[in-house]
Amino acid sequence: MLPQNRSDKPLLEARDLHLRFGGVIAAAGINLKVYPGKFLAIIGPNGAGKSTFLNICTGYLRPERGQVFLEGREITGLPPRTIANMGVARAFQIPQLFTDKTVEENLLLALAAREGFWRWLPLRAKDRVEEGQRLLRALGLEPFASFAVAETPEGVRKLLDVGMALALRPKLLLLDEPTSGVSSEEKLRVMDTLVQALRAQGVTAVFVEHDMDVVRRYADRVAVWAEGKIMVEGEPGEVLKDPQVLATVVGVEE
Ligand SMILES: Nc1ncnc2c1ncn2[C@@H]1O[C@H](COP(=O)(O)OP(=O)(O)O)[C@@H](O)[C@H]1O
Ligand SMILES: [Mg+2]
Repeated sequence: MLPQNRSDKPLLEARDLHLRFGGVIAAAGINLKVYPGKFLAIIGPNGAGKSTFLNICTGYLRPERGQVFLEGREITGLPPRTIANMGVARAFQIPQLFTDKTVEENLLLALAAREGFWRWLPLRAKDRVEEGQRLLRALGLEPFASFAVAETPEGVRKLLDVGMALALRPKLLLLDEPTSGVSSEEKLRVMDTLVQALRAQGVTAVFVEHDMDVVRRYADRVAVWAEGKIMVEGEPGEVLKDPQVLATVVGVEE
């Protein structure tokens, strides 16, 4: 047998995850491996359990059965903050931002939060401001640095939300519908910027996405969710040709 390549080790592994909400089955035996540097897209109809999966991986939900491993260490049911500190960050469908503060201040607060509350003052410590500048640059947000978040377009807020997650210096970023609510003209620009920033920082990403053009363009792998299960997983070129996948996902594309 050939020696195992380092990259053969999954960054994240889910084993047999199960979770119900009353009569609703949100996870019915999810098995998935995410490899370092590979971007995985999750597609599937509403209610299929995509967000539930991200919530289990980040500790917001505890599965009834099954386990989650990060680099081989079990993280099932650990508090969200612990999992975040171990390197799993999360960006939200609706960005969680301080809308009355500026774009730059939001990033500085995220950087301060990483260091612990006792280091919040002064917010504009030199190192922190420099790191904030780097993040602004990486995400093309410099022109908006001094804008109050409330005054910025949705695409900027999405990128800022990603910037807040990157402030934690994660290994893995989980994105729930990063382009939802972003206009189609803005969409590819937002994704191009986001993907470039993640690649530059060596961050692996899992993203839930409804736009198949975005999936084809940015995903190395695709997993199709249906009724709490993974229907099929593979390379986008193959998976998106599958008639069963087309039948399940077509309704979602509209
Ligand atoms: N916290 C919750 N309480 C009760 N039901 C939930 C909760 N979260 C999700 N569900 C239900 O679980 C199913 C899967 O939801 P979700 O993971 O959000 O699907 P998706 O993200 O694929 O649209 C849905 O039927 C949803 O209504
Ligand atoms: Mg969802």
